[in-house]
Formats: sequence, C-alpha cells, structure tokens
Amino acid sequence: KSGDIVKELEEHCATPVSKLKQIADAMTVEMHAGLASEGGSKLKMLITYVDNLPTRDEQGVYYALDLGGTNFRVLRVQLAGKSGIEYKEFAEVSIPPQLMVGTPEALFDYIAAELNKFISSESEKFRHPSGRQRELGFTFSFPVLQLSIDSGTLIRWTKGFSIQDMVGRDVVAELTKAMDRQGVDMRVSALVNDTVGTLAGGKYDNKDVAVAVILGTGSNAAYVERAQAIPKWHGPHPKSGEMVINMEWGNFKSSHLPLTEYDNSLDAESLNPGEQIFEKMISGMYLGELLRRVLYRMANEVALFGDTVPPKLKTHFILRTPEMSAMHHDTSPDLNVVGEKLKDILEISNTSLSTRKTVVEICNILATRGARLAAAGILGILKKTGRDSFRDGELPNTVIAMDGGLYEHYSEYRNCLENTLNELVGEKLAKHVKLILSNDGSGIGAALLAACHSQYI
Ligand code: BG6
Ligand code: GLC
Repeated sequence: KSGDIVKELEEHCATPVSKLKQIADAMTVEMHAGLASEGGSKLKMLITYVDNLPTRDEQGVYYALDLGGTNFRVLRVQLAGKSGIEYKEFAEVSIPPQLMVGTPEALFDYIAAELNKFISSESEKFRHPSGRQRELGFTFSFPVLQLSIDSGTLIRWTKGFSIQDMVGRDVVAELTKAMDRQGVDMRVSALVNDTVGTLAGGKYDNKDVAVAVILGTGSNAAYVERAQAIPKWHGPHPKSGEMVINMEWGNFKSSHLPLTEYDNSLDAESLNPGEQIFEKMISGMYLGELLRRVLYRMANEVALFGDTVPPKLKTHFILRTPEMSAMHHDTSPDLNVVGEKLKDILEISNTSLSTRKTVVEICNILATRGARLAAAGILGILKKTGRDSFRDGELPNTVIAMDGGLYEHYSEYRNCLENTLNELVGEKLAKHVKLILSNDGSGIGAALLAACHSQYI
C-alpha cells in the first residue's frame, strides 16, 4: 500500500532530538580529528589562511568572482572605510553544463571571458584606478588545500562538477593563465570558499558573526577557530590568535545519520559515490532527486500514478528542489500547484487529491530530515567552540551568517531548521544564537578579503 511506503520512509528518516544530539556530538568528534592531522577525518577542516576578518577600514575598488553555486557571478564593490560599501555591481550567468565536466581550460576560459566582458563595459573611472592593477577575490566553492591566501590546489570536485585533470592543480594559477589568454590584467589576491566569503561579509555587517553556513546547491560551514586548537597548523602563530576553518561538512558521515535506500542508491549512482554523504541528505542539489526516487518506487510498487510508470519519472534530477519547494508550500485546497508541477515536469495528468497529498507528505518528510540534520551540524559547531556554554558567567552571543538558495527560498526548510536549533540549544541559549540571511555575503566577503590582502598595502 502507498501508506506503507510513506510510513516506512517516515520511520527511516526520523530525527528525534536524542539522535540529533548524537549527530552533533559525532560532528564535534570529527572536527577535533580533522584539526588534529591532515586526513585525520572525513571532515577536512581546511585551513583557510584567513586569520583576520574585515575591520571596516578597507578602502578602494575590488572585484570578486564567485564560482560554485547555481550561478557564476562577477561583482565589483567600492569600499569606503567606515561608511561601508558604496556601491556594487553584478553580472550573473549560469555555467553551461558541458563545462562542468569538460576541461580546466574550457571552464577557466569561460570565466575569464565573462570577467573580461564585465570590465570592458565598465566606465572609464574604474580602468586601473590611480595606475593600480585591479585586484580580485576568487570565491571557489569546492574543497581546496590552500597553500597561502592566494593559492591552493583542488582536492576534489563536488556538486556535479567533474573535471579530473583539474584535481591537484592550483586554482589561482589556472585562473591567472586563463586571464592572460583572455587579455585580462588582474591579480587574484584572495582565494576563498563561499562559506569563508560569507563569514567575512557577515562579520563586516555584524561583529558577533562567528560561523557561516551555506545551504544551497551544496552545503558547508566555516567558523572562527582558536589557532591553538589546530594541532595540524605548523605555520606562524597568527597575531589574532585565530584562524578561519572551512569544515567541508558536506563530507561528514556518521553511523547515526538516518540513511535510507533512496540515499544509498542516489549516492551509488552519483558522480562522487561514497563522498559528500551529509550534503546528499540536506542540500538543494539532492532533495528533489530524493523525492523523485521515492515517487519512482511508489509508481512501480503501488501504482501511485496509475497502471503505467510515468516515463519522465525515470530521469535523474528531473525534479529540482525549487519545484519540490513549490509543491511543499502549496496551500490551495485542491493542491493545484502540486497538480500543475506533476503535469508540467513529469507529464502526469489527472492526479487525485490523495496522490497529491502523498507527494506533499514526502516533500515534508525529506525537507524536515534535511533541515533537522543541518541544525544538528550547527549545534556541533557551537559545542566544539564552547559557544553553547557560559563564559565569565555569561552566554556568548553567536550570529550565524546563512546563505544559499535553499535557505533563502525554501521557507518550510528554513523554519524547521530554526525551530530545531532552538529546540536543541534550549530556551536560554536560543536567545543568544541568531541566524541571519547574509545574501550575497560571499561575493562581498571575497572582495573584502582581496582588500585585506592587497599588494598595495
Ligand atoms: C550565493 C553566494 O549567494 O550563494 C555563493 O554568493 C554561494 O558564493 C551560493 O555559493 C550558494 O547558493 P546556491 O543556491 O546558488 O548554491
Ligand atoms: C560543496 C563544496 C563546498 C561548498 C558547498 C556550498 O559542499 O564542496 O566547498 O562550500 O558545496 O557551496
């Protein structure tokens, strides 16, 4: 019966508070292990070479490139010290899918050409202001082993990118070569992950920001760690005593995670089997695909959509998370949005109300599990950094800068995450922990970090 499959899904996806706490504890254990030694954990806990976050003294015109989310962006900001950001300008394009699995040269040439277009259309006043070379912060949202603030080699691809020749290569060197080929005279002065950019951008606006989380196509978190708590760091002791860590929490795995047959098959058939297990349960690239897998099984086993299995339902990734979100948020009594989506995307017409209800129920189960697991991840960070307990008789204020399309647009997911986090930390601490949407913080953050590491200061 259709109800049995839904019930089974619900049971397998269950995330009671006790389980979430075990997951948060497992996260802190892995954080320790990842900080202790390179390769010490599935959590890479990458050293970012960002040991100072922006102070609001930054001045001048800086650029940012942002690669790794849904869209590729170019941006320019003018930093005016204490008065903040004077203006920003954007260009946004999607990355042609064939470039995600092509060659490094093709991908980086495309990026450099877009950058060239952007600066070629700029007004005269931005052309080499006061004879300086333009400087750029590069947000590259994949796991990178940084060698310095402005260099680092790609560890592996995630989120549907797969260009094997690029693995192990220096990301900045590849971009610089492509800029040369395209005739762009710019220097990359900071290479940052999107979580690190979001942390920097968030901190610029609010001094209590200490953690950044991305919930978009992929998912990840970065936070400010005490340098002394990073045994694997053998470099000079930063003056600030701090170092930003890019956790790459998408690769977290634990026996406590409520994995289902749908997760296992999604993983096995993915471009990166065995990797990014946490990401595959919680992030935007995969939620819609998990929904498709459940519907596909139900179409086969209990004829959810009638006697034949709708052929479109076989296509991997045909159901995207924004579509799932639209169905989940359908408040019309007849669930008309659900009906339309099933028709438009899957070519299934004349669904009954009870079928539509089942679809919404599945959306709810999957989104709830994802959001609650993300909340457990955040609790893990609060615990690791001692931000869950009293310091000098007071609870510390922690602001978490959030970004990504999933968090921004999927309100059921966002609300569930916030409620779960409050539930997990308890009433007292909840007053001291705040999530804020830091939209586009990462591009601005990258520009700010480029300013902090300018060759002219
Ligand atoms: C954007 C940030 O707002 O969110 C990017 O500028 C980030 O750096 C992105 O990668 C993540 O969201 P999505 O939904 O586009 O993957
Ligand atoms: C993936 C990437 C990570 C990035 C995250 C969010 O998990 O590996 O670097 O921060 O997606 O975009």
